[in-house]
Amino acid sequence: MYEFTDDCLTGNKQIDDEHRMLFQIINEAVALSSEKDADNVIIMKSTLAKLRDYAATHFAHEEEYMEKTSDPELARQRMEHASFVKKVDEMRGADIDESNAQEAVKDMLSYLIKWLYTHILSSDMMIGKLESLKNESTDVCEGSKEDSKDGGMFAFTDRFRTGIEFVDDEHRKLFEIMAEANELIKADFLHDKYDKIMHILEELEEYTRHHFADEEEYMEQIGYPELEAQKRAHAAFVERLVEIDFNDIEAMDNNQQEYLTELMDFLVGWLTNHILKADMKIGEYVKR
Ligand SMILES: [Fe+2]
Ligand SMILES: [Fe+2]
Ligand SMILES: [Fe+2]
Repeated sequence: MYEFTDDCLTGNKQIDDEHRMLFQIINEAVALSSEKDADNVIIMKSTLAKLRDYAATHFAHEEEYMEKTSDPELARQRMEHASFVKKVDEMRGADIDESNAQEAVKDMLSYLIKWLYTHILSSDMMIGKLESLKNESTDVCEGSKEDSKDGGMFAFTDRFRTGIEFVDDEHRKLFEIMAEANELIKADFLHDKYDKIMHILEELEEYTRHHFADEEEYMEQIGYPELEAQKRAHAAFVERLVEIDFNDIEAMDNNQQEYLTELMDFLVGWLTNHILKADMKIGEYVKR
């Protein structure tokens, strides 16, 4: 069974309820296929049919909401949703060999659940959050004019402190790398600007991996109960970084800057949300 745990909650009730339902469809299939004499071919067909229908309805709701709120991620989400539906359709069309139907069901279910976890944790988690995170960061900085110097979302302020020194240091470094990328993106007439940005994005991916590995090792050492949820979130974010297509960005003419600005807003927004919601709890656990 795949538990729909709190780390998957986006805070939007309808979206969360629908995600829970998607998990339920998959879990029903897990239960059915573990029964003796299970007809795995039928389980597979009916699960895919149910999921296809429900996912299409859910994606439409999500996209409608994002459209209403002018969410900058809408285009990307649309693409991800469409590619998932396409994949499910392909699976539905494929012939299933009766003799290894059990294997096929297993593969199908693990693909579906992995896609869901990754998509929810990397993309859906940020639906409706970016604007308020932007506003919060300007509020926080208001007192200290030093920090607010254009730092905005990219400023590492005290509210991010978990109290675990190496974690805070590594988070600060992540913010620094992202701020550097952000500044370059905004800079006009810079020689080799594009190459420099790509270079920093590579550095960001590398340092993110390094940080997540450190954090996970630490959580393991202290027996932190939410390690698995943290690992899932980290993996989802790394996947998002890996997916950044440098060739695609290079080929953009007019909207390269806009694309990169939105990308950086999203990345720093995701990290902010993750630190405040998840990493803070590691610090609280240690203090207890
Ligand atoms: Fe989505
Ligand atoms: Fe972290
Ligand atoms: Fe974390």
